Amino acid sequence: MKRSRIVGSGSYVPKMVLTNFDLESMVNTSDEWIIERTGIRERRIAGKDEAASDLAYEASQRALKSSGIKAKDIDLIILATTTPDMVFPSTACLLQDRLNAKKAVAFDVSAACSGFIYSLSVADQFIKEGIYKTALVVGSEVLSRITDWNDRATCILFGDGAGAVVLQASSDRRGIISVHLHSDGALKDLLYIPGGGSRNPASKKTIEKGLHYIKMRGNETFKVAVRKLEEVALEAINSNNLKPSDIDLFIPHQANLRIIQAIAKRLNLSMDKVLVNIDRYGNTSAASIPIALDEAVSEGRLKEGDLILMEAFGGGLTWASALLRW
Ligand code: UT7
Repeated sequence: MKRSRIVGSGSYVPKMVLTNFDLESMVNTSDEWIIERTGIRERRIAGKDEAASDLAYEASQRALKSSGIKAKDIDLIILATTTPDMVFPSTACLLQDRLNAKKAVAFDVSAACSGFIYSLSVADQFIKEGIYKTALVVGSEVLSRITDWNDRATCILFGDGAGAVVLQASSDRRGIISVHLHSDGALKDLLYIPGGGSRNPASKKTIEKGLHYIKMRGNETFKVAVRKLEEVALEAINSNNLKPSDIDLFIPHQANLRIIQAIAKRLNLSMDKVLVNIDRYGNTSAASIPIALDEAVSEGRLKEGDLILMEAFGGGLTWASALLRW
């Protein structure tokens, strides 16, 4: 059976670092509280002129370089984001133009923090079916633009960044083995942005009420996340007749170190098999997994044949996992 395989990866984070100590002077919080409750020490913030397509462009250039594939040969661009440059055109189309990837079909996927795995799944189907040969899958976020910098419960969590992978058909056992996607719109109120869409279009009132910022019921979201992430990790493992101990590297969405540790414990995975970079980047939503994957590649943590489990959870609610043979 044909599989799609990651043949290159790249990531980009903006230069500006915002530390927990910087946040202490902005809201009533402390470095100690943030580290203890989230594991985050610092995050990156995009420059005034940087939008999601700019971060995506840098990450994509690096992914293309590492794959040795030219932009003109990309058939498909799928970009996951909750912070598109504008309502339309899609950020994927803006990226296509920047890359000069003339023949590519380009569109965005909206699945909040699960967006990268959702996008990977779509690209995987097209490649497995033989419809497209080469796909660029990107997660890019400028969450600092939708963060309420007066809300200590959320502003300490998020960061900006982008990650990208190039996918091609594989002729051997390497590649994406299975992807598992889930949604539950009944839990939409746990994590959302109420303003700026067709329900509450941008107005003086929506701005005054801060409706264009992320709203999260953190504690409730945390509990659902731990439950659903364990389920979806086991779904990937069990449906392939594997055991958690078969996993060589676990790449979880970086939302909270306590969530990551809880899942690792439930799967009985030692933390040295778990990729953690939340301390440096915070929660970068759809970008967190491709940034972490690229870090694993550049640190030489992956060798051919390794089994990788990725998983994510986010607004929607959405959650997903993917199992890959490197
Ligand atoms: O990526 C998408 C999915 N997102 C997630 O999965 C995030 C899930 N949620 C979380 O990561 C955690 O719920 C948070 C990190 C957001 C919050 O941690 P928590 O342990 O759930 O804290 P809490 O909301 O229950 O608040 C505990 C206390 C409260 O004070 P009282 O009411 O006990 O006096 C908060 O007001 O901590 C207070 N608090 C803070 N204190 C200092 C909330 N934020 C802060 C803060 N600094 N930044």
